[in-house]
Amino acid sequence: MLTLASEQQQKREKTELVLANIYNLPPIPKAMKDALELLDSPSTSATTLAGIISKDQGLVTKILTIANSPLYGLQRKVTSIDFAVMVLGFTQLRNIISVLSMVESFKNKSDKHLDQKEFWLHSYLTGCAAKKIAEDMDCPNSGEAFIAGFLHDMGVSVIHKYFHTNFIEIHKLATEKGINFSEAELERLGLNHQQIGNFLAEKWNFPEILCDAILNHHNPGASHLNKTLPAVIHLADFMTHELQIGHSYWDKDLTLDESALEVLRFRDCEEANTFIKSYEELFTHQANSVRFLN
Ligand SMILES: [Fe+2]
Ligand SMILES: [Fe+2]
Repeated sequence: MLTLASEQQQKREKTELVLANIYNLPPIPKAMKDALELLDSPSTSATTLAGIISKDQGLVTKILTIANSPLYGLQRKVTSIDFAVMVLGFTQLRNIISVLSMVESFKNKSDKHLDQKEFWLHSYLTGCAAKKIAEDMDCPNSGEAFIAGFLHDMGVSVIHKYFHTNFIEIHKLATEKGINFSEAELERLGLNHQQIGNFLAEKWNFPEILCDAILNHHNPGASHLNKTLPAVIHLADFMTHELQIGHSYWDKDLTLDESALEVLRFRDCEEANTFIKSYEELFTHQANSVRFLN
């Protein structure tokens, strides 16, 4: 008879086999692909880059929406792509286009188990809030905070897209039986969404710091790298729940991890709560600028 541990191990291996075979994400739109290639070349001029991006008006709108959103925190209003290239610079542009290309690749049809708009709103808010928290707290890696925040729950989207029958079961266990979503994921797949996100991020050669933040966004204290980035992502994620704006049902039991308080040097929960409250207005405005997620 199989023990619980070996049963779990078998499920895990089966899940990893499916994940290892996700080689080709659906193609990203041409303008995004061209822009990412140009951003990799040191000889690219701002004019060439702006010219390529301008060919896709949808992409222009998305970049301008993010650049002008309250949590993203640019001091000046950006109204044209030429100006956006100048103000944002290549690194920030690369971050924005990279996450937008991931959104394109992972887009799936909404169903009663997962509303795509809700999912990407949560991701978008967490990404922008993480960037702002990193800047406000003088943490390094605000660019990585944006990407890691945007992609922290990508495991959820992967389960919905590639393990759909299991997703329905997980949804059922979580909503009808009140089991914690991550535990239900472990129970069905041998891996939770943090581990699935990390597995793919490693497979796609994302930087180690990004993989680690995705893996430890629920328990930043477990990170073996610098714990700051996972703690920032955790706080941004928790904010969506605390402020009840763009929060996610799959992490509805999320509580503020004590290690995050320590890493981010909050004296106590009260100080953390005051900090969270100070973001409320920005969250409200940000949530209103989500048309691009449709
Ligand atoms: Fe999560
Ligand atoms: Fe989340």
